[in-house]
Amino acid sequence: MEKLRTILKSGEKKLPRREFLLGAINVSWTVPLMAGLWGLVKYLRFEPPTTGGTQFPLGSSGSLPDLPAYIENGQVWLHEDSSGYFAVDAICTHLGCTIRLQADTTYQCRCHGSRFTEDGTVINGPATRPLGFLRLYWSGTGTLTVDRVSVVEASFRLPKTQSAGILQVI
Ligand code: FES
Repeated sequence: MEKLRTILKSGEKKLPRREFLLGAINVSWTVPLMAGLWGLVKYLRFEPPTTGGTQFPLGSSGSLPDLPAYIENGQVWLHEDSSGYFAVDAICTHLGCTIRLQADTTYQCRCHGSRFTEDGTVINGPATRPLGFLRLYWSGTGTLTVDRVSVVEASFRLPKTQSAGILQVI
C-alpha cells in the first residue's frame, strides 16, 4: 500500500497491474468485513421498543377487529374463544421485536427467528423464555384494556360482556 501511495503522490498516470490487483484484493475483503462489523454493532446495540405506560386501551367490544389480531396500541395479539378474550404479549422475549402470528397458530419473530407455540412455549431460539399472557379488563368507560405488567395464566379469559368483566376484576 505504501508503494501505491508513493505512485499516486508522484502523479504517475499508469498504475502497475500488480499494485492495482493488490488494491482490489484489499477492497474485496475490507468491504465485507466492515459490513459484518456494522451488522454486529447494530445487533449488540438493539434496544426494545419503549412504551410510555402500562395500561393500554384496545377498543370497545364493538370496535375490535376480527380476532385474532395484533393490537398495536397494547403490543398484544388479542384472541377470543367461547370463554372470552385473552392477550398474548407480542414482544419477543429475546430482544424485544414484535412477534407475528403464523397461519399454523405459532408465533414467529422475524428479527432472529425465534418461534413459539400458541401457548407461548419456545419452539426454537434464540429466545429462551416463553411469551407472556397479559391481564385484560374492562375500563369504567367500557374499553377493553390490557395491563402490560400483569402476567396471567394462559387459561385466563375475560368475559366478552363488560358487566361480567367488571365482576371478574373485582
Ligand atoms: S428479538 Fe431476537 S428472536 Fe426475537
